[in-house]
Amino acid sequence: MSGTLALRLKAASKALTKKLFVRTYGCQMNAYDSARMADVLAPLGYGPADGPEDADMVILNTCHIREKAAEKVFSELGRLRPLKAERPGGMIIAVAGCVAQAEGEEILRRAPFVDIVLGPQTYHRLPEMVAKASRAGGAVLDTEFPLEPKFDFLPEVRAEGSAAFLSVQEGCDKFCSFCVVPYTRGAEYSRPPAAVLAEARRLAGQGVCELTLLGQNVNGYHGEAGDGSTWSLGRLIRELAEVEGLERIRYTTSHPRDMDDELIAAHAEVPQLMPFLHLPVQSGSDRILDVMNRRHDRVFYLRLVERLKAARPDLALSSDFIVGFPGETDADFADSLALVREVGFVQTYSFKYSSRPGTPAAAIAQQVPEKIKEERLAELQGVLLEQTTRFNHACVGRVMPVLLDRPGRHPGQMIGRSPYMQPVHVAAASHLAGRVVDLRITRVHPNSLAAELVDAKACA
Ligand code: SAH
Ligand code: SF4
Ligand code: F3S
Repeated sequence: MSGTLALRLKAASKALTKKLFVRTYGCQMNAYDSARMADVLAPLGYGPADGPEDADMVILNTCHIREKAAEKVFSELGRLRPLKAERPGGMIIAVAGCVAQAEGEEILRRAPFVDIVLGPQTYHRLPEMVAKASRAGGAVLDTEFPLEPKFDFLPEVRAEGSAAFLSVQEGCDKFCSFCVVPYTRGAEYSRPPAAVLAEARRLAGQGVCELTLLGQNVNGYHGEAGDGSTWSLGRLIRELAEVEGLERIRYTTSHPRDMDDELIAAHAEVPQLMPFLHLPVQSGSDRILDVMNRRHDRVFYLRLVERLKAARPDLALSSDFIVGFPGETDADFADSLALVREVGFVQTYSFKYSSRPGTPAAAIAQQVPEKIKEERLAELQGVLLEQTTRFNHACVGRVMPVLLDRPGRHPGQMIGRSPYMQPVHVAAASHLAGRVVDLRITRVHPNSLAAELVDAKACA
């Protein structure tokens, strides 16, 4: 369990008599959900466990996006089984998240010692599930997509540190041909603007100055306001920028097709919106983009990047790529490499295509051999590393606002994050923790930047 999640559990309830351990796989949405599950269970007396061997309840919050991610669940369950058997008071084992949603029955068949299987949309019902599981009499399975949104039933969020996630949108209606998310998370749902603003104000009031808005398709946000109007993400960001104390706003993950004029204008006009955008493109080949059902081509993406950079000239972009999608030829892959160079991505997450049961791409005959996928992945990552390194070196000499959020390894050192999410370390007093401070970048290390305070006195 992460230190912050442990702290959250400690603060949550005065009478913590039982111990909870949560292991999180997958995306930031799952990290948000894990924290909220801990919130839901705190009133039942669950406090933090140091590890699974120490826990009365273990939750695996799982990810189904690629085969490897899904397999991890079963090996972790194999490790938990003897721990449960040896623990005198027993142990409740729950499997949550996207594997639970997709393979709930299969989990109970292969691992009958699991007590609870719950999907991403039902975790507000955890207390009832725990009560049922404790009464024994078989496992509890709840992978419904309930009509009532879970957000209406979750306890108030509590901040831990100066940066926080806020889930504003969930689910996906895009149905890219390779992807399980529309099946595991369900249809698109946007939280009402008033609920988002209230959660943001609460977090800001507790010292949060950087907020990352989360959604599987976050820029598809269309929140129904009380007056009958519908807010886009651009409108929501403008309103969030008015919240006292919020100095930085980010959002992830976006789809190119949903990048509307209002959102592009927000990049030009809202200074709190950070100049770093994760805008996955997946492939640079028109033919592959079409079979992926991404609903745009390469030129559409390039024009979009042009408009975004015109709105915010210091904008840097990152992307996700899939290599070895069924039918991808050398020429298609060359188009991806060319796009990486043309856009000048400063970061990408690239993955070998993984065939997912039930998705249309899994049924395509021409699957690409593993060896070719590996070669393409290495080549793409090589090009990307060059670009990331070049970008990092271009930052030397620049002054950047850095959110100092944790102590460094050495005494008198703090670590923070630049607008571009680069870790930056600097000699600075610990009372600067949680503040955004101007730093001059001095050096590039393999995984971080070094910097100095621009105005040491102003920070004294
Ligand atoms: N909503 C986001 C992506 C969410 S999934 C978007 O539209 O881009 C995160 C990433 O996992 C995807 O961007 C994709 O690159 C990767 N991914 C999804 N399904 C995959 C699969 N079957 N095999 C390999 N990578 C996959
Ligand atoms: Fe998956 Fe993203 Fe496509 Fe939705 S838009 S199906 S989450 S890759
Ligand atoms: Fe994985 Fe589900 Fe997130 S499949 S990437 S945990 S939405």
